[in-house]
Amino acid sequence: MSKIFVANWKMQLSYKDSLKLAQAFKNIFKNYPFSPARQVVLAPDFLSLPEIAKIIKTSPIKLGALDCAPESKGAFTGEVSAQNLKTLGAQYVVVGHSERRQYFFENEILINQKLIVAQAAKLIPILCVGESREEKRVNLTKEVLANQLRRALKNVKSNLIIAYEPRWAIGSGQTPSPAEIEAIHIYIKKLALQILKKELKVIYGGSVSAANIQEFKKCKNVDGFLVGGASLKAQEFYKICQL
Ligand code: PGA
Repeated sequence: MSKIFVANWKMQLSYKDSLKLAQAFKNIFKNYPFSPARQVVLAPDFLSLPEIAKIIKTSPIKLGALDCAPESKGAFTGEVSAQNLKTLGAQYVVVGHSERRQYFFENEILINQKLIVAQAAKLIPILCVGESREEKRVNLTKEVLANQLRRALKNVKSNLIIAYEPRWAIGSGQTPSPAEIEAIHIYIKKLALQILKKELKVIYGGSVSAANIQEFKKCKNVDGFLVGGASLKAQEFYKICQL
C-alpha cells in the first residue's frame, strides 16, 4: 500500500537545530525502503529550506514548504513565491493548515488561489482540511469538510494531496478513532473524485506519534501522515515511517 509521511516542523526550531535535525533525518533514513509508493517529505520553515535542500540532496527524502503566496509574483511585501520555493528544491507545499486558518485568517478563497499558484509552479500542494471540536460535537464534520473542499478545489488540477487534520486533534494528544478516520477518508475521497474526477491521496494529521501509529495500520484509506510534534525527533519520526 502506498504511503507518504510528511514532517511538519512548523516554527519550532532554531535555524541551527533545523539543519542538525535534517542531517539526523538523512542519517537515520539511510537504509529506509524508499520507493514511489513509500515517500518521506521534510517540511521545514522557509529560511532553513535552501540549506536543508543541500543536506538531503543525496537522500531520497523530499522537501516541502509550509506555505506560499497566493500570487505568483509582484508587489506583495513579505510573501514567498511558490516559484522560488520550487527553484530552491521544494516539491511539495502545505496549504491551508489549520494554524494558518486560525491565526492568519486564511479562508477558502485565499487557499484556492494558493493551490492554483502552487500547481502552476509545479509544486504538489498538500491541502489541509478539518473540523473544529465544536463542529464535531454538533455533527457538522462532513458538512464542514464538503464546504472546505468544494471551495478550495475550484479550478484546481488533480495533482494534489489532501490532509485530513481535525483541528481539535492537532497538538492535543487526542485523535479520532481509526474507524472514524477511515470513514472520513472514504468520504473525502468520494468528494474529491466528484469534484476533480480523480482519486486523490488522503493523509491523516493530528497527534500522530510512535506510540499510536500502529492503531492506524488497518486504515486502508489512509495514504500517509502529516506529523507535527513527533517529527521533531528523528528516531520517533523514523518509527512512525515504519508503518
Ligand atoms: P501534531 O501536528 O502532530 O503536533 O498534532 C500536526 C500538524 O499540525 O500538522
